[in-house]
Amino acid sequence: MERPPRKSSGTPPRSLQRIAAALFLAILVALPFAVMYRAAVSQSLQDSWEWDPLPSLAASEEEGAEGGDLGSQDLKLERVLQKASMGDNTVILTTLNAAWASPGSVIDLFIDSFRSGVRTSSLLRHLVIIAFDWNAYKQCVKIHPYCFALGTDVVDFSEEKRFLTPGYVEMMWKRIDFLRLVLERGFSFIFSDADIMWFRNPFPHFYPDGDFQIACDHYVGNATDLRNIANGGFNYVKSNERSIEFYSFWYSSRLRYPGFHDQDVFNVIKHEPYVADIGLKIKFLSTSYFGGFCEPSRDLNKVCTMHANCCIGLGSKVHDLRIMMEDWRNYLSLPPSLKRSRALAWRVPQNCSLS
Ligand SMILES: *[C@@H]1O[C@H](CO)[C@@H](O)[C@H](O)[C@H]1NC(C)=O
Ligand SMILES: *[C@@H]1O[C@H](CO)[C@@H](O)[C@H](O)[C@H]1NC(C)=O
Repeated sequence: MERPPRKSSGTPPRSLQRIAAALFLAILVALPFAVMYRAAVSQSLQDSWEWDPLPSLAASEEEGAEGGDLGSQDLKLERVLQKASMGDNTVILTTLNAAWASPGSVIDLFIDSFRSGVRTSSLLRHLVIIAFDWNAYKQCVKIHPYCFALGTDVVDFSEEKRFLTPGYVEMMWKRIDFLRLVLERGFSFIFSDADIMWFRNPFPHFYPDGDFQIACDHYVGNATDLRNIANGGFNYVKSNERSIEFYSFWYSSRLRYPGFHDQDVFNVIKHEPYVADIGLKIKFLSTSYFGGFCEPSRDLNKVCTMHANCCIGLGSKVHDLRIMMEDWRNYLSLPPSLKRSRALAWRVPQNCSLS
């Protein structure tokens, strides 16, 4: 930003002195508070995160919100996205907090699904896991080559966030803001929640002319009908002017709908004229391919992804995801004729429910 030109009239020495005096006073007053604040924050971080940062990340944390720090975070992000990206600058992204990162929990099932899916294991090379807290980050680097620790300020994202609690809502919005940044860097992405099992490569089922393609809790049978009820847990977004503008608009819309999470706000703003003005081409993805517990992808010969949506509580989620993985392996072991005859159906949801 350019500074306004300085006025040369008046009495510069005196006004400079005044400014200097005011600044000095301000620093005197503010410094103890700043120190106390930082101490309080780092204490609470220690308490809740078992503070044990890796050297490179510790360095960037020490510097607080200085320009250099933000710059190096940016570089780290750019580097990891570059390494993971496909030829056309597309990456696969998921987010992770400590509750979903523990061994045998959601993230292990997520990665396992890629390995046992049909032609999905090679997609792991393009997956970047965005960790919301240090425990998630530490677990990530044990199981996956591409991890990125997202600066988490003061809010602690490490615990299980139950649906629609304030912490959950904040975490979801942080994700939208981050995804805008990824688009601005020129990367297209598939964003997938980690409680979505990948059974087949989704790319053949995307629309070539869609900017923003999103899975649904309820699909009305027409990819452009705005009455589809979108689910923010899975989307494919191409980086362009329209998508960047849309993500900025989406993120800023949280202020008009306080307390609502990104998915609810999306299902409102999709009708707003401004979104049509942006020219964003929205496509809703059929639950026949991109299903979930709300509306399962019933044909195992077609399913690409299955989301543990319409499910409250981590224990229930992991329980049902494990059964879903068993069902998938059983399906894979069937002879072709039985596969075709659709002899096998999902045994889930069982413990997952909205009540
Ligand atoms: C799908 O929905 C769009 C938008 O509501 C509508 O214009 C179009 O006619 C619909 N297509 C079919 C096949 O119903
Ligand atoms: C799942 O449901 C069964 C039957 O209601 C129950 O016994 C079991 O404890 C539940 N498991 C979890 C992890 O919620």
